[in-house]
Amino acid sequence: MTTTTLSHATATATASPWLLPMRRALALAALGAGRTSPNPMVGAVVLDPAGQLVGEGFHARAGDPHAEVGALAQAGERARGGTLVVTLEPCCHHGRTPPCTEAVIAAGVQRVVVAMEDPDPRVAGGGIARLRAAGVDVVEAVGRSDALRLNRAFIHRVRSGRPLGILKWAMSLDGRTALPNGHSQWISGPAARAWVHRLRAGCDAVIVGGGTLRADDPLLTSRGQRRPEPLRVVMSRSLDLPEQARLWDQGLATTLVAHGPSPAAAQGPAPSAADRTRARLDRLGVERLELPACEPVELLQALASRGCNQVLWECGAELAAAALRQGCVQEVAVVVAPKLLGGMPARTPLADLGLARVDQAPIWHGARTSQLGIDLLWQLEHPHHASDAPLADDPGDAAPDGPPAEDP
Ligand SMILES: NC(=O)c1ccc[n+]([C@@H]2O[C@H](COP(=O)([O-])OP(=O)(O)OC[C@H]3O[C@@H](n4cnc5c(N)ncnc54)[C@H](OP(=O)(O)O)[C@@H]3O)[C@@H](O)[C@H]2O)c1
Repeated sequence: MTTTTLSHATATATASPWLLPMRRALALAALGAGRTSPNPMVGAVVLDPAGQLVGEGFHARAGDPHAEVGALAQAGERARGGTLVVTLEPCCHHGRTPPCTEAVIAAGVQRVVVAMEDPDPRVAGGGIARLRAAGVDVVEAVGRSDALRLNRAFIHRVRSGRPLGILKWAMSLDGRTALPNGHSQWISGPAARAWVHRLRAGCDAVIVGGGTLRADDPLLTSRGQRRPEPLRVVMSRSLDLPEQARLWDQGLATTLVAHGPSPAAAQGPAPSAADRTRARLDRLGVERLELPACEPVELLQALASRGCNQVLWECGAELAAAALRQGCVQEVAVVVAPKLLGGMPARTPLADLGLARVDQAPIWHGARTSQLGIDLLWQLEHPHHASDAPLADDPGDAAPDGPPAEDP
C-alpha cells in the first residue's frame, strides 16, 4: 500500500472534511458487489493522527471479517489516536464475529466517521451509541446518499423482508420482444448482452418463468464474472418443463425450480408431465421449492430467507407482469434496440398489469440512459422504492420475518 494523505487537509473547503477518505471507503465497499449477501457492502479506511492512510479494508463476502476489522488490523498501532472512516455504522452485536465496536474501541481511534446507520434492527444506532459511550468522537452522515444508494438492495431486504427486484428486458424500438412467429434471438447486440452478464454478477438470483425456459433454453450465468454464479430460478405452475435444458446442468451454476403445490401423482400407467419433471429434477439433483400459490411474492420471501439481497427478473411477459403487480420490482433495466420488428400479435414485454386508466400507471423515475453498442439502455426506479425513505424517519418500517441466518 502506498502512503497517501487523505485527511481533511486535502479535501475541498466546502465539502465535509472527511468526504475524500469516505469516497475511498465507498470505492472499497463496492469491491464486494454481488458477494456479500445477506450482508451489506462495507468499506473502511484508517487515518493516523497526521491524516496518513494507514489501513484499508472491505467486506469481501459473508462470513469474512468486517471491513473495519481488516482496516484496523492493517493499521495496527498506527490507528491509535487516528480516525476510522467507514461506510456503515460498526455492528454492536455478537454474530459469527465479535462486535466491531469493541475492536474499534480497543484500537484506540479517536474518531469514527460513518456514512450511514445500519438498518439491521440488531444494530440500528446501537453501534454509534456504544462508540460514543466509550468516548469515541463519532461523525455521522458523511457521503450518506452514496452509501444509501450502494446498499439499496440490502436496505430494501432488511426493511421489506424481500430482496430488491430488478426487471430487465430487451425490445425493439417499436416495443416488441419477438417477431409474430416467435423468433426472438437476438434483439440486442453483443455489448448489451455483455452488460447483462455484469448485471447478473451483481445479483444473488436470476429468475425466469417456464415460458422462457421452454422458448429460449437460457443459460442465465454471469459467464464466470461471479463465483459462485447467481442462483438460477425457474417458476413453473405446470412443471411441464423440457427434458433437456441448460439449466439442468448443475456444474456451472445451481438451479432452483419453484412450483405450486404438487398434485397427487397421476393414476394409471402414464405419469403426467409434472410427474416426469419432478422425477427428473430429483434425479439430477435440481432443488425444487413448493410454494403455496406459486406467486412471485412467495418466491421472494423464500429467497430473502436464503440471504438474497437482490434478484434479477429475466422472465417473459406473463411472469414479469405478475412480479410487477405484486410489488416485486423496484428497478427496471430496458435495452432498446434500433430495430423495428412490427406485427400486431407480436410479443410485448408485459402482460396485463390490471390498469383501468392510463393515469393509474406509476411514473418511474431517476431515468438514466447509456449507450451499449448500437442499443440504448434505460434504467429507472419505482416511485415507492422501499430503500428511499430516510432510515431514521421510519422506525415502524416492516421488519423482516427474521434476519437471515448468515451473520458476517
Ligand atoms: N426480450 C426479452 O428480454 C425477453 C426476456 C425473457 C423472455 N422473453 C421471451 O418471452 C417469451 C416467453 O414469454 P412468457 O410470458 O411465456 O415467459 P415467462 O413469463 O418467463 O413464463 C411464463 C410462465 O411462468 C410460469 N409462472 C409460474 N408462476 C407464475 C405466476 N405466478 N404468474 C405468471 N407466470 C407464472 C408459468 O410457467 P408454466 O407454464 O411452466 O406453469 C408461466 O407460463 C419467449 O418468447 C421469450 O423469448 C423475452
